[in-house]
Amino acid sequence: MIRCNRSLLAAAVLTLLCLPGMSQIARAQDDASQVQPTLYQRLGGLMPISVVVSDFIDALVPDPMLNANPAIDEARQQVPAAYLKYHVTALVCQVTAGPCQYHGRTMKESHSHLQITDSEWQRMVVIFTETLARHQVPERETAELLEIIESTRADIVMPMESGG
Ligand code: HEM
Repeated sequence: MIRCNRSLLAAAVLTLLCLPGMSQIARAQDDASQVQPTLYQRLGGLMPISVVVSDFIDALVPDPMLNANPAIDEARQQVPAAYLKYHVTALVCQVTAGPCQYHGRTMKESHSHLQITDSEWQRMVVIFTETLARHQVPERETAELLEIIESTRADIVMPMESGG
């Protein structure tokens, strides 16, 4: 009888001691579930990002429609694909809120001499979208990546000649 009462008392004391701690843990778990994962995290981090970028560059570099532009074709022969893969991976990692830092040139500096047209841009978007689909990147992440790519368009595509 006495032993039973003691253990009941101990259980009551333990509950009182633990309750505040438990509610803190529950609150921390609630906070954690409210923090939205970054695009970088949702893509699975650097490993899948680097694989997708590598595949994208492998499809982009030999593309006959893009290489019909002599400036693109010449740059393709001068600039190693491995170098482009490194820089584009770092850039995608950075802009999706990953831990990398892009140290390459600006989009304007690295593309202005290529005289990229609107239809060449469209071709690149098709290759990019096909690459994401091959890797089963979900719809939401695909849309966010396309939006990021779109935000660089004005710096990459040459300005239209004003007619007159
Ligand atoms: C039609 C579209 C595009 C084509 C044909 C293209 C092609 C190229 C080529 C040929 C180079 C090497 C230029 C040189 O060093 O002479 C280059 C560099 C690069 N491109 Fe693109 N590109 C396109 C769009 C993009 C987009 C959308 C991104 C990223 C959002 C991008 C990221 C880069 C980066 C990071 C570099 C390297 C910069 C550096 O050398 O520091 N490119 N691109």
